[in-house]
Amino acid sequence: MKFFIDTASVAEIQQAAELGLLDGVTTNPSLLSKEQGAPREILREIAKLVAGPVSAEVTATDSAGMLREARELRGIADNIVVKVPMTLDGLRALRVLSAENVPTNCTLVFNATQALMAAKAGATYVSPFVGRLDDISADGMQLIGQCCAIYRNYGLESQVLAASIRLPQQVTQAALLGAHAATIPPPVLRQLANHPLTDSGLAKFLADWEKIENRM
Ligand code: E4P
Repeated sequence: MKFFIDTASVAEIQQAAELGLLDGVTTNPSLLSKEQGAPREILREIAKLVAGPVSAEVTATDSAGMLREARELRGIADNIVVKVPMTLDGLRALRVLSAENVPTNCTLVFNATQALMAAKAGATYVSPFVGRLDDISADGMQLIGQCCAIYRNYGLESQVLAASIRLPQQVTQAALLGAHAATIPPPVLRQLANHPLTDSGLAKFLADWEKIENRM
C-alpha cells in the first residue's frame, strides 16, 4: 500500500521524505490555509520535494471552472494530481480530465455508489473519508472494503485512497482490505513506527550492553 502524507507543511513533508517511505502528498484548501504564503507557491515547493503525486484541489464548483483551475494547477508541476469534489460537476470535469490523461483524485467520497461513479468517470484516485464517517457514527472502514470489492468486481482501474485517517490502526485495516493507498496525517505517520514493546525492549538491550561494554 502506498503511503501518502496528508499535509501542506513543507517541513513535515521533508521529514517524512527523509524516512524514505513517502509515495505522495495530499493537500486540500483547509490544509493550505494553515500554512504561510501563497498556495500555488507552497504547492510548487511540495511538488519539487516529492517525486510522487501531489494532490491539489480545485475550488470552483462548476465543471468549466474546475477544468480551468485544473489546467492552472497542472502548470505548477508535472506531478500535480487534480483533486475534484464528488459532485455532478466534479464527475463532468473528471470525465474530461481522464480523456486528457490528467491524473485526478476524487475527494469527499462518503458512500460506495459515489466511489463507483467516480471510478466510471475515470478518476485515478478515489478518496473515501474514513474519519469523518466515523465522526458521525458510521463505519468508515466498511466503506474502504466496499470500494475495494466493487473495483475488483468490475476491474475498475481507479485506486482506493483511504483518506481522513485519524489512527494508526486505520492504516493497518486499510492495508488488510486492499486499499491502494492511505493518506496519513504527520502525527499518525510518526505513531505508525511506535510500539511500547519496541521501546522497552530497546531500553533493556541498552541497559544490558552498558553492563558488559567495559569487557571489550
Ligand atoms: C485527503 O485528501 C483529505 O483532504 C483529508 O484526508 C481529510 O481529512 P480530515 O477529515 O482529517 O480533514
